[in-house]
Amino acid sequence: MTQTATAQTPSPSGHRPAFLNFQVDHMTLLLDPKMYNVSYAIFRTLFGAGQEDILYEKRKEWAKGKGETSMTFAVRIGADQASAQQAAALRQTIVAVVQPSEPESQPSHVRDMLEGHSASAHWQHIALRTSDLLAFHQYALQRGINFITPILKDADEDLIQTFSGEWFFPGAGPSGLFFEFVQRNPNPNLLKKLEERNKETWFRDRTFLGLYAEKEKEYRSGTVTPFLDPRLFEKLQSRLASKKLWEIGEEDLRWAEGEMQEYARRKKQPSTQEG
Ligand SMILES: [Fe+2]
Repeated sequence: MTQTATAQTPSPSGHRPAFLNFQVDHMTLLLDPKMYNVSYAIFRTLFGAGQEDILYEKRKEWAKGKGETSMTFAVRIGADQASAQQAAALRQTIVAVVQPSEPESQPSHVRDMLEGHSASAHWQHIALRTSDLLAFHQYALQRGINFITPILKDADEDLIQTFSGEWFFPGAGPSGLFFEFVQRNPNPNLLKKLEERNKETWFRDRTFLGLYAEKEKEYRSGTVTPFLDPRLFEKLQSRLASKKLWEIGEEDLRWAEGEMQEYARRKKQPSTQEG
């Protein structure tokens, strides 16, 4: 028996839909080029990753005749290959490592992200895995969350994914931190449904390059999509900023979710925005 009175909150699993039972799928680490090869060696030695655990390694020739540079690799750590093969993809942990491979003369959002943090290493995004990406995506859109891509099919992996806007507050610079949401092993019906839904974007570049180009475009334009639009962020702040964290009650949270839904509704139908 503990003295601390823990509030009898209902078990989350009681009301949380299955698609919100996220698991970490992978994370993406941005590294200064000086750390890139060393990190590879560390993953191959200390973390015990074999050649077969290097899931991909992508290269690019940024300038013709200058030769290829490695942009990124992904390493699987912690996969339990000894147990049943079936759900192996769901038990593994993956780290994707990215260096700014562009020549010094060429801009790079990865370099910007690292320099913006005065850091030679930065965790960029964490990919959360859901059992129903379509349901989650819909749910998030209905609450005003911004995504920089529709749901995409990875060309190399049996995986569908979407990327959120970055976490930063109005007026602050982009943080370089965002979320990816993924679903592994999507069934053929779902794939067909998604394919019909976003015809133009479906056959994009392989997704890593698709995301890479999207982020580069954002950083060059100076307009980085935030997780929440400034107006929605400020709306939430208007009621929550003056409170201590422990003063934020259920009533406030219901209000916040309501505001998010209302904001998303209005944004979707700007013509009915009267009043
Ligand atoms: Fe990712």
